[in-house]
Amino acid sequence: MTSRAVQYARYGGPEVLEVVEREDPQPGPGQVRLAVRAASVNPADWKLRTGAFAPGETAPRQPVVPGFDVAGVVDAVGEGVTTLQVGDEVLGGTSGGAQAEQVVVDADGLVARPAALSWEVAGSLATVVATAYRVLERLGLAPGQVLLVHGASGGVGVVATQVALARGITVIGTASGRHQDDVRALGATPVVHGDDLVDHVRAATDRVDAVLDAAGKGSLADLVALAGSPDRVVTIAHPDADDHGVEFSSGGTVDGALAEFVGMLAAGTVRAPEVVVYPLEQVGRAQEDNRTGAVSGKLVIVP
Ligand SMILES: NC(=O)c1ccc[n+]([C@@H]2O[C@H](COP(=O)([O-])OP(=O)(O)OC[C@H]3O[C@@H](n4cnc5c(N)ncnc54)[C@H](OP(=O)(O)O)[C@@H]3O)[C@@H](O)[C@H]2O)c1
Repeated sequence: MTSRAVQYARYGGPEVLEVVEREDPQPGPGQVRLAVRAASVNPADWKLRTGAFAPGETAPRQPVVPGFDVAGVVDAVGEGVTTLQVGDEVLGGTSGGAQAEQVVVDADGLVARPAALSWEVAGSLATVVATAYRVLERLGLAPGQVLLVHGASGGVGVVATQVALARGITVIGTASGRHQDDVRALGATPVVHGDDLVDHVRAATDRVDAVLDAAGKGSLADLVALAGSPDRVVTIAHPDADDHGVEFSSGGTVDGALAEFVGMLAAGTVRAPEVVVYPLEQVGRAQEDNRTGAVSGKLVIVP
């Protein structure tokens, strides 16, 4: 049997993406194959596609199918998997390959999709939830402390802001002018990012105990000044982290994070980042819209 997948065989702009018909992937031990219902776009998709992480190389060793977050229906089960069956509806993270009609993923870490969660939202969550929980654990704030989330209107920022608030942490969230109301609606105090950030934040709070830089843009020096020390700042995206002695956090999650956040969503105590849906054939446009920031929210591919 064959099915469709997005892939690129050389590094470059969105023009290197093509939709191909390929043999169905087969699950190995501990894996399942999902019939994909939704797979989100992350900045990592287009950063990898440009070859930014493979300096001097023009092409990956094998064609790459992008996509790290997925929601779908189990349609084949690998050896040793006892927790899932064909027909189960799940969501979770992959090591790549989700922007396709089918993807093979490790069964561990997949979470049942509650009926209340749309396929599109379910397929948008894994990376942003893993990242937000990981950094919050690293920062280790107690109830009553103050967290500055730089980029509170983005995918990671929306999750981190709400999880922190649910833990009794006060959150100041930066965003552009057009997203101030969104940040306020989450329960945080919004501040406009850009020039005079330090003054704007100090006008909103007399203390900042830690900073999560979920934007990777703007002045890290400002964030360090606000936190009072580089070891109270963690960035997930800033290229100047080393210059400022700031930790760059990459990869990994906290056990149970996705299940907990999905439970909070199903209970209605938090909201998911907004989703914008694109068909598989428009994956290039979706990756470009994410790269340029032309479209806000989690951009989701539906095959
Ligand atoms: N290290 C990791 O494990 C990891 C994991 C996931 C993501 N990331 C990286 O983290 C970053 C955020 O990911 P995401 O999925 O949350 O992206 P996103 O949804 O596109 O959010 C980007 C955020 O940055 C803000 N922003 C945009 N321009 C800015 C500027 N000039 N100054 C300050 N803030 C600005 C945006 O606010 P407005 O739209 O309101 O301007 C928004 O809040 C990306 O670079 C991504 O590659 C890293």
